[in-house]
Amino acid sequence: MEHQQIIFSNAIPEAIESILKELDFNKAVIITDVNTHQFAFPKIADSPAVKGVPCIIIKSGDTYKTMETATTVWKQLEVAGATRRTVVINLGGGVVTDLGGFAASVFKRGLRFINIPTTLLGAVDAAIGGKTGVNFNGLKNEIGVFNEACAVVVSTLFFDTLPPTELKSGYAEMLKHGLLSDRQYFADLLNHDILDGDREHLLGLLKRSVIIKRDIVAADPHEQGLRRALNLGHTAGHAFESLAMKRMEPVPHGYAVAWGLVVELILSHMIYKFPSDILHTVADFVRDNYGTFPITCDDYDTLLALMRHDKKSLGGEINCSLLADVGDIKLGTIVSSDDIKASLDIYRDLLQ
Ligand code: GLY
Repeated sequence: MEHQQIIFSNAIPEAIESILKELDFNKAVIITDVNTHQFAFPKIADSPAVKGVPCIIIKSGDTYKTMETATTVWKQLEVAGATRRTVVINLGGGVVTDLGGFAASVFKRGLRFINIPTTLLGAVDAAIGGKTGVNFNGLKNEIGVFNEACAVVVSTLFFDTLPPTELKSGYAEMLKHGLLSDRQYFADLLNHDILDGDREHLLGLLKRSVIIKRDIVAADPHEQGLRRALNLGHTAGHAFESLAMKRMEPVPHGYAVAWGLVVELILSHMIYKFPSDILHTVADFVRDNYGTFPITCDDYDTLLALMRHDKKSLGGEINCSLLADVGDIKLGTIVSSDDIKASLDIYRDLLQ
């Protein structure tokens, strides 16, 4: 599969110009949400290519990642006179790029779209790799298609207005990419202060992370094999995230991934002898930057049930992507309940 065009640049209007110059299109339409319209749109509004382009503004938040919102987008695309030669520009976080990508992908059997992620989590994950969709029937991303943006602009300038928790949330996915690739990049990530305002330095790290994801997706676009490696930290992480929802104390996705990474590196150590010094370094980094998700042994059965219901688990067995070392990926490991319980005991020792 060809690589998706990704431009890493803090000269955002120029990046948009250069992408649009290459496209044969008759009209552009921008999709934003209420927040990104206020905080991110002004950063691209000066681009001559964007002047006078109609904007479809959706409500902010995952609860609006629905078929109803997609329907309002389709209606507004009709009003804007969109045709097959129209290009959609998604300016926002994961909700906008997932929903906007889906709405574009099926409108008139498919419009091309450009993603301009405005959050670190969006830039490092949602905007790259062609997963589009909406939540449906209480299930996340239940309706959607694999379809890559024809181009992605990755810039760190949008992050100036992000709260620290949002930055940390995205950074957890970068840590995951570091663990999946090489020790040098992983060490560079651990040496970086997440809240350091040097946007060019962050752009350099982000570029490495995005390229790691892009290469994994290119090798396995439809998640039949290698792409499952991107699930590292997510089996336990999603269980923490769901338990937090049950407790009515939601946690940011990336925080749950950070805690989930610790659990899954413990499992990696137990099953594949993942180096314990790196496990301890990660646990320290996670505790210092993300705190801990408090659990007791009374939560274990709930966490196990949540892991068994994870989309990536098969036939009630808990299926994790683990590591034998940094960059040494072990896909599809079936993990027993006893091993999960033992890893949660160690998680509590390391983080609580
Ligand atoms: N977020 C994981 C993936 O794109 O496959």
